[in-house]
Amino acid sequence: MTPERVGFIGAGHLANAMIRGFITSGYLDPGEIVISDVDDGRLRQVHETLGPAIAPSNLANAERCDVLFLAAKPAQIVPIAEEIKPAMRAGQLVISVAAGTSVDRVRAALGPAPTVCRIMPNLAAGVRRSTIGLYADDTLDEEALQPIYALLSQVGKVFRIHDEGQMAAITALSGSAPAYYVMMAEALVSYGVSQGLPEQLVAEMILSTMEGTAAWARQAKVPLGPLWRRVVTAGGTTEAGTRYYDDKGFVDIFVEGLARSTERARELGDS
Ligand SMILES: NC(=O)c1ccc[n+]([C@@H]2O[C@H](COP(=O)([O-])OP(=O)(O)OC[C@H]3O[C@@H](n4cnc5c(N)ncnc54)[C@H](OP(=O)(O)O)[C@@H]3O)[C@@H](O)[C@H]2O)c1
Repeated sequence: MTPERVGFIGAGHLANAMIRGFITSGYLDPGEIVISDVDDGRLRQVHETLGPAIAPSNLANAERCDVLFLAAKPAQIVPIAEEIKPAMRAGQLVISVAAGTSVDRVRAALGPAPTVCRIMPNLAAGVRRSTIGLYADDTLDEEALQPIYALLSQVGKVFRIHDEGQMAAITALSGSAPAYYVMMAEALVSYGVSQGLPEQLVAEMILSTMEGTAAWARQAKVPLGPLWRRVVTAGGTTEAGTRYYDDKGFVDIFVEGLARSTERARELGDS
């Protein structure tokens, strides 16, 4: 069942991506999406580019919508939940996208009426290819989750996480990870250009290699962890690179970055 109106409180980067994804999926018309934000200029810009309706306040947004995404920064989530509490009613669904903030904290601020869950998507929602970690507590069984899957699957692939404590690591692996992948791409671009290749050509080749690698890895019979060894031939060109990365502790450095991202998600939850 398609919700009649879907609201976004906070109309920033992530909300933009999700709104674009919902509209291009055809699941929602722009007029079925309502946005509110403290920044009027941003509201106008999103309205002009994507067409959602503007609510004059978060409370008005909550009054109009069956489904509400809380899409402001983590520190704003509880104050926003307290602000919209008077509009909460049974049958409403509130989905927080904020890193860190627990379902219990959001529910405590909203009161008992709405259904509450949290997700960790990423910016690929804009092209309907987000990876979405979903946490819902035991108050929601699989049947109750079906409409939530139906909605979210319009903008990506949904993975249910059963232990909320793991959402911080999911934040590193899903929400933040596109930055890490394209950071690696920056190194590839810069290397290709340093070798005299045109930047556009290098960028296209890197994207093609990323897409091809994902497709190849998906059908490989080897688990993803050790799969890279399949590309390595003893004494070959790939090994020349992987041996250097190994010597320099590349994997450890990368893992440490993920651990810091996870730790930051936990800190944001405490704030
Ligand atoms: N960006 C990502 O890739 C990503 C991925 C996964 C999850 N998330 C989560 O998504 C949330 C939003 O991130 P973002 O990157 O989209 O941030 P953003 O671009 O800064 O957008 C947040 C928007 O919310 C507005 N806002 C602040 N206080 C508000 C209030 N009281 N009521 C309504 N709107 C308010 C902000 O306005 P001002 O700028 O004027 O404060 C801003 O326009 C965060 O909780 C983050 O953890 C983000």
